Amino acid sequence: MAEAAVSSRRLNQTLEELGRFGYSPDGMQRLAFTPADVAGRDYAMSLMRRAGMGVRIDPGGNIIARREGSDPNLPAIAMGSHLDTVPNGGKYDGSLGVMGGIEVVQALSDANVSLRHPVEVLVFTNEEGTRFHRWLFGSRAMAGTLEPGDLTAVDDEGVLMSSRLADIQGNMDRVQRAGRQPGELAAYLELHIEQGPTLHQSGVPIGVVTGITGRWVYEADIVGVPNHAGTTPMSGRHDALVSASRLVLEVQRMASELEVCRVGTAGTIQAYPGAVNVVPGQVKVGFEFRDLEMACLAAADAEIRSVAARIAARDGVAIDINRFESTQSAPISSGMQELVAAASERAGLAHQRVPSGAGHDAQSMAGITDAAMIFVPSVDGVSHSPGEYSTPEACANGAQVLLELLLLADRRG
Ligand code: GLV
Ligand code: MN
Ligand code: MN
Repeated sequence: MAEAAVSSRRLNQTLEELGRFGYSPDGMQRLAFTPADVAGRDYAMSLMRRAGMGVRIDPGGNIIARREGSDPNLPAIAMGSHLDTVPNGGKYDGSLGVMGGIEVVQALSDANVSLRHPVEVLVFTNEEGTRFHRWLFGSRAMAGTLEPGDLTAVDDEGVLMSSRLADIQGNMDRVQRAGRQPGELAAYLELHIEQGPTLHQSGVPIGVVTGITGRWVYEADIVGVPNHAGTTPMSGRHDALVSASRLVLEVQRMASELEVCRVGTAGTIQAYPGAVNVVPGQVKVGFEFRDLEMACLAAADAEIRSVAARIAARDGVAIDINRFESTQSAPISSGMQELVAAASERAGLAHQRVPSGAGHDAQSMAGITDAAMIFVPSVDGVSHSPGEYSTPEACANGAQVLLELLLLADRRG
C-alpha cells in the first residue's frame, strides 16, 4: 500500500456536493456551458485550490490544475475527466474521474508525499457534445485534433459554441493554443464508471480498460411529400416519418441481428411540419454506430447507405445520409494495462480486462500520450440515466487504484 490513502468519506461527500449543481428529479441537467456547468466547474476549482494546486483555464475552456514535482525537468502526469452531463443524466459519469483526481492530490498533500513528476488534474470541456453535437471538444482541443466544424458549431437554435465557450473563459479564436505537444505529458490516467454491466455482473471491483470504442455519428434527412392526413389515400403517400421508421429499425437490426458492428442507436428524431393532421413531409434522424474495430464501422457505413437507397426507392422519398462526426477507437497499450493491473493489486483489489463501449476524453489524449483507464462497477450497468449509481465503496476503490497508478507511473523511467 502507498503511504497516502484516499478518504472515501471526503471523496463521496464531494461527489454528493457536485451532484447538487444541475440536479433535477429527472436526472442531472449539467449540460456543457450552462450555469450549472459553470457552478460545478467553480466548485471543482475550489477543491483544486484547497488541495494546493495552481489552477488555469486554457483557450478550450479546459481547467488545468497543477501540483509541481521534485524534478523540474519531467513532464506532468495528468488525471482527469469531464463535469458536463447528458440531459437527464447521472452524477457519476465524468464526475468520478475529476473528483477522484482531486482526492488523489489531496491525499498526497495530506501525507506530505512529493512526486518526481508534476501532477495535473484536468476538467475537459463539453465531453458529451449534446448541445452543439461536437463531443470530446476540450480533450480534442488539447490533443490538437479539432476539425473546422468544431470552430463553427452551432446548437439547434443557431447559437455559436464559440459564444458559449467565452462563458467558461475559453476563446475559440485561440483554441489551437490549447493543444499540447507530444512529450509535454508523461501519461494520462482516467478513472470512470463502467457505464455497462460487465463488472456489476462479475462482482469484480476494478476494470482494466483494454480499448475505447470508435463512434461514427450521422444525421439522416428524409424528404417525402407533406399532405392532408384526412384526404390523402394511404396508397398515394410519401410519408417521411414512415420511411424514417424503417431506417431506425435497420440501424437496430444491423447491430443486433446482422452484427455488422457492436451497437447502433437512433437517438433523435424531428418530424416536420410536426402536426398530427399533416402527413410528415420531412424527418431528421440522428443515429450512431460504435465498435472497437474501425473496419466494422466502415462496413456499417456502407450498409446503412445501401439500405437507405432501397427505402428511398421503395417509398418514393429522398434520403440523404450525412456523417458529421468520426471518432477513432483507441486501444490502450499492454504496458498501460499492466500498470493498471499492478495498481489494483497494490490496492488489494481484484481486476478484470474490459473494453469501453462509451467514449472518453482518454481516447483523445491517447493521441498525445500514454493513456490508461480504470473502471468501477455501475449498479445494474445503468448510465446516461437518472438511475446511474456506483456505490461509495466502488468510487473509493477506483480512487485508491488511481492513486496507486499515479505512484507507479511516477516511478517509471
Ligand atoms: C459519452 O459519454 C458517450 O460515450 O456517449
Ligand atoms: Mn457520458
Ligand atoms: Mn463520461
